[in-house]
Amino acid sequence: MQRLEVLSRQLTAAQASEDRAPLLATRAEYDAMYRRSVEDPEGFWGEMASGYHWQEKFPARGHLQYNTDVRRGPVSVQFFRGGTTNISYNCLDRWVAAGRGDQTCFIWEGNEESDRRTVTYRQLLEEVSRLANWMQSVGVKKGDAVTIYLPMVVELPAAMLACARIGAVHSVVFGGFSADAVAQRILDCKGKVVLTATGVMRGAKPVLLKPIVDEAVALAAKQGFNVSSVLCLEVPGALPASRTPWNPARDVWWGDAIPKMSPVCPPVWLAAEDRSFLLYTSGSTGKPKGVVHTVGGYMIGAGVTCRYLFDMRPGDIFMNTADCGWITGHTYLAYGPLLCGVSVVMLGGVPTYPDGGRLWRMAERYKARTFYTAPTLLRSLLQLGDAWPRQSDLSSLRILGSVGEPINEHAWHWYHEVVGDSRCPIVDTWWQTETGSAMMAPLPAPWMNAKPGSAGLPFFGVCPVILDPATGNEIVSTAAEGVLALRGVWPSMARTLHGDHERFESVYFAPYKGYYFTGDGCRRDADGHYWITGRVDDVINVSGHRIGTAEVESALTEHADCAEAAVIGVEHGIKGQAIYAFVTLRGHDHQTEAMRKGLMDHVRKVIGPFAVPEVIHWAPALPKTRSGKIMRRVLRKIATGEEKELGDVSTLAEPGVVEMLIKLRGK
Ligand code: WT7
Repeated sequence: MQRLEVLSRQLTAAQASEDRAPLLATRAEYDAMYRRSVEDPEGFWGEMASGYHWQEKFPARGHLQYNTDVRRGPVSVQFFRGGTTNISYNCLDRWVAAGRGDQTCFIWEGNEESDRRTVTYRQLLEEVSRLANWMQSVGVKKGDAVTIYLPMVVELPAAMLACARIGAVHSVVFGGFSADAVAQRILDCKGKVVLTATGVMRGAKPVLLKPIVDEAVALAAKQGFNVSSVLCLEVPGALPASRTPWNPARDVWWGDAIPKMSPVCPPVWLAAEDRSFLLYTSGSTGKPKGVVHTVGGYMIGAGVTCRYLFDMRPGDIFMNTADCGWITGHTYLAYGPLLCGVSVVMLGGVPTYPDGGRLWRMAERYKARTFYTAPTLLRSLLQLGDAWPRQSDLSSLRILGSVGEPINEHAWHWYHEVVGDSRCPIVDTWWQTETGSAMMAPLPAPWMNAKPGSAGLPFFGVCPVILDPATGNEIVSTAAEGVLALRGVWPSMARTLHGDHERFESVYFAPYKGYYFTGDGCRRDADGHYWITGRVDDVINVSGHRIGTAEVESALTEHADCAEAAVIGVEHGIKGQAIYAFVTLRGHDHQTEAMRKGLMDHVRKVIGPFAVPEVIHWAPALPKTRSGKIMRRVLRKIATGEEKELGDVSTLAEPGVVEMLIKLRGK
């Protein structure tokens, strides 16, 4: 029995090696292409872009212009100047024209395993065109913002592509954000139209969406901004249409309006540097930042990384567990895979529902070639035992991807050995909302010798530099550790923050002049492989969701009984990091469970469920320096019980505070 199993595994390994040669067969090939990409970015990217449809071609020379040095003037980046294109045309029409219209574009499963739907490229093009026509009919024009607050249904990527088709700028808001957070985002980008759904089942739990949109729209109206149209999709299960709150002057049922629209909508040809979309993300201070991506560069970054990092070829089956509410869902679920003509497998439910075998059964059912997920999900799946992946035939898998946070060795080995049968390379992609597409990764080729936990080598055109955080000087030796910055420019980089170019410059380009500052710490080993060590700023990563400590603090201090709050990230076995809050109340005698719950509910209301602190630690006072700065380093040690290693506390204004906080731990 066991011998048979070994034999069958060897066979699959043999099949894997014979069915396709790696795109970059040797290290020398990668080196040569990489060198070309950094020595002549304009020529290199011009060639890469020539594989896509441009309505008007950009000139071979002079299409790239940029300045990323704040000392020389405003930061600005322009790729493919003079060219016009449309990403929805490149994702859809191009394949239909090439005779691939009947190929599956999305394979979707909903909350229940029996909820299944497949959509072909032609069908998606028609759905996208109908939606685009509807948006135009309610007055949406090129450059207008459209808010998308939808669960993971095929209509979500369709809505994104419909915006792209007419040059509207989408802002997808993750379904886990609260009404306050949705309102803040609508107000920031002045989105007059919202696309949403009634609600959705997540496992056994109903999640309502339309009522949240109503509340958000009302909040925006109070601030003087009126949303003019809300298009609502009826998703069966969570909230019946008959019980969905409705404003007939503003709300339109998707199922009534969209089928009536024409399935033909000519794409609006856009300049390469026109805006493509906005995506809000957290920073270390202040309100969320609306990261702006543009049409041409983003398209090329998404398409080319899919090609080289995931070896996507037309007809391949690519499975991605990401939600379109985050950048991974934009680049590697909606846009990049369709640019490569693959069939995307997506799950609209909870990945562990009804049990730990759901994702593996899907991978088997649809014969996924590539599987892309986040370490936090891998950790929760591996906890459920090896039996789940072993119950499914995963022999179709060839490449495994990871994203969102550093992958710990244990999870890496489980992924590699149990899921991938020691046969599939792990492509651990390091990147950010702001970079638009993957910046570093081990390439899926046998020569790569990927190391568990390492983000591998820079992608084409990416020049990572390791800086000494104290001096800001570049550490040039191969082996180095410090903060990670990127030199130069790449097509898919963010161009600005919506409405705040000054903040864009000060957050990313002012800290280390002449470089893009990533906010991550990093080590480069003697082989030149990169290892991300985590954020060096006040941003934490909870289950791959990025959240600023300042945002949680400001939500807490908005609560009437909260005088002050300090939030830190602490290590968490599944989530990577968990939110840990020190809270000073107005009057110390209310340190009750009810108060704790009230504070947590408040954060849920202001931001959303994923931002609720795991722990609230009562703090009659916070450790501060004499100049009034909260000593987070000290708080981290207190939270983790490492008070013996507090380090230098000579600048503490009131040394007694530390003792008091230690006593209150767990209370
Ligand atoms: C931050 C960006 C990019 C898609 C998902 C997150 C961390 C991301 C990795 C990785 C180590 C990673 C970094 C980065 N991160 N991928 N493969 N290894 N860390 O996008 O929400 O913009 O967060 O996620 O800290 O700065 P995001």
